[in-house]
Amino acid sequence: MCGIVGYVGRSEAAPILLDGLRRLEYRGYDSAGVAIVDGDRVETRKCAGRIADLGKLMTAEPPAGTYGISHTRWATHGKPTDQNAHPHFDQSGKLALVHNGVIENYQALREDLQREGEHNFTSDTDTEVLAHLIGKHFEASGSNGNANAKSRLVTAVRTALQQVIGTYGIALVHKDIPDFIVGARRGSPLVLGVGKEENFLASDVSAIVAYTRDAVYLNDFDIVAVEREKFEISSLAGEGGHYQVSKVEFTDEDIKKGDYPHYMLKEIYEQPGSVRDAMRGRLSAEECTAKLGGLEMTTAELRAVDRIVLTGCGTALHAGRIGEYIIEQLAGLPVEIEFSSEFRHRNTPMTGDTLVFAISQSGETADTLGALRESRRKGYRTLGICNNVASTIARESDGGVYMHAGPEIGVAATKSFTSQVTIMSLIGLLFGRMRHLSTSEGSEVIDALEALPAQIEETLKLTDHVKEIAKKYARSPGVLFFGRQFNYPVALEGALKLKEITYIFAEGHPSAELKHGIIALVRPEVPCVFIAPDDAVFSKNLNNMEQVKARKGPIIAVTSGGCAKRLEGIADDVITVPSAPDFVMPVLSVIPLQLLAYHMAVELGLDVDKPRNLAKSVTVE
Ligand code: F6R
Repeated sequence: MCGIVGYVGRSEAAPILLDGLRRLEYRGYDSAGVAIVDGDRVETRKCAGRIADLGKLMTAEPPAGTYGISHTRWATHGKPTDQNAHPHFDQSGKLALVHNGVIENYQALREDLQREGEHNFTSDTDTEVLAHLIGKHFEASGSNGNANAKSRLVTAVRTALQQVIGTYGIALVHKDIPDFIVGARRGSPLVLGVGKEENFLASDVSAIVAYTRDAVYLNDFDIVAVEREKFEISSLAGEGGHYQVSKVEFTDEDIKKGDYPHYMLKEIYEQPGSVRDAMRGRLSAEECTAKLGGLEMTTAELRAVDRIVLTGCGTALHAGRIGEYIIEQLAGLPVEIEFSSEFRHRNTPMTGDTLVFAISQSGETADTLGALRESRRKGYRTLGICNNVASTIARESDGGVYMHAGPEIGVAATKSFTSQVTIMSLIGLLFGRMRHLSTSEGSEVIDALEALPAQIEETLKLTDHVKEIAKKYARSPGVLFFGRQFNYPVALEGALKLKEITYIFAEGHPSAELKHGIIALVRPEVPCVFIAPDDAVFSKNLNNMEQVKARKGPIIAVTSGGCAKRLEGIADDVITVPSAPDFVMPVLSVIPLQLLAYHMAVELGLDVDKPRNLAKSVTVE
C-alpha cells in the first residue's frame, strides 16, 4: 500500500529510484513520482499511472543528482491524479516528502496551518499537509540560528510527527541540505539499506536487495537521518534508537520473474518448494509430532491452551478458516476464526488460556496488526504466522511460525495460502499429539504432509486441462464456488482469486447453502465450481451438483480418487487432483482454482500481477 524508495550515494539516483519503484509496484500502482536534488534544484517528475509512465517522463527529461526520494501510490486521500501523486512540497518549495499511510487529523492540521499564515495547498492529500507542517517547523527553527540544518530538520520532523495522529512511513529531502534524507515510521514499514558509500530507504527490502543485503528494519516511532556514509536513528521522543543490521534472506534473483509471464504463475509453480519449506525441520518422525520452536512456549504452556483464535484478512483469513477445521479435527481444541478488522474493534470474550494467531503473509496488514495489538493489550499470548521476516507483525508478536515461502510479488496471494494451510496442519499436529493423537496417528499426519510436495507437482500437471476450461468460461457474467468442510474455505479462496484478477463476480459458499437462496442465481451462463474430493461428504456434494444440473447450470468439479467416475453425466468438466486425507486436501484442491483464475484473466487480456484497485500489502484500515 504505497511504496517508498530513497537513495543517497555517489551514483545517479534516478535509475536506482525507478528500479526500486518497479519492484515495489505491487504495493500500489495508480500514480508515481520522484524528487531528486541537483545542486540548488529539486527535480520532480510525477504522474498518474504506472511506473512505466513515470519511466517515460524520466527518460524524456532525465533528472540528475545523487540523492532523492520516490513513491508509488495507492490512493487513500485524493484521486489518482498528477497533482495528488507524491512527492509533495512544503510552502517554501524546498522540502519534498513521500508518505505511505494515513494522517487521520490532516483536516485539523491543514486548517491550523491556514489560520496561522500563508499555506497554499495544491493537492487533496494528507501528505501535503505533513510536508507543510514539517516545513513550518524547520523554517521557524532557522531563526534560532544555533543548531545546524541537519539536526534542525530532524527536530522539525520530530515536532511535526508528535502532532500527527495516524500512520506513516515517510522519506524527505530538503534542497538546502545536500546528501541528506530523513525517514520515519509509525505503522507503515520502512527499511534502511546499508551500503558502501551509499544508503537506501525503502518500504520493503525487495526494492534495494539488488544493491545491498544489509538492512535495518526500523521500529515504530524511529526517525532516521541518512547520509552517504552514515546514518543515525533516534526515537520520536528524542532518544537514541536501538537497531540491528540484519542480512536479507533472499537475493535479487529470487524476486525476478524468470521465464514466467507473470509472478502469479511463477508463485503457483513454486508451491511444491514453498510447502516443503514450510515443513522443513519441523516434523519429528521419532516423536510423531511437529516441532515449532518459534512459538517460544514450554510444553506445559502449550498443554494449558484451551482455545485458539485465528485472525487474518483475505486469503490469510481463508487459510485460517481451514485451520479451524484442521486444528479442531487433529487437536480437538475449540478454534474460532475472526476477521482481523472485526476482532480489533470487538470485545471478543476470551478465556485465560486462549492462544491467538495472527496470520499475515506481509506481516504489515494494518487490520491484522491492529488485532494483534488488541489481543496483546488484553494480555493474551499472540503469535504471528508471517512470511516477511522482521515484518511488524512478526516483531510485535510473542513468537510464531515463519512461512519461509520466499518473496510473494503477485498481488493475488497463492503460495502463501498453501504455506499457511500447511502450518495450520503443523499446529494441529503439535496440539493433537499433546492431547488425544496416538503415535501412529501422528505418523499418518506426517506421512500425509510429506507426500504433499510431490502431489502438488502432480496437480500442477493439470494446467493445460484447466486452461481449456478457463477459455470456455472466461466470459461468464459470474461464477459460483461451492465446497463442504475443509473445502468450504477453498471455495471462498477460489472465488476471491477469480474476483481479484478477472473482475468477474464470484461468490463462495458451503455447498448445502445452495438451496437456501443461492440457487436463484443458477442459470446456463453461470458456471458452478464444486470442490468435491473423495471424502465423507462427497455424496452430499453430489446431491448439490444434481440440484444445479436440474437447473441447467454448468458444473466444474474438482475431485479426487475414484470419484471422477461418479461425476460422469453430472459435471461438465472434471479436474482430478491426487487423493489425500481431508485435512491436507485444501493444499491440492486450491491449485486448480488458482490456475483457473489465472488462465481466465490471461484469456481476458488482463494485468494478472497488478489487478485494478488492489495493492499487495494493505497498511491502511
Ligand atoms: C488475496 C490477497 C489479500 C491478502 C490480504 C491479507 O489474494 O492477497 O486478500 O491475503 O490482504 O494480506 P496479508 O496476508 O499480507 O496480511
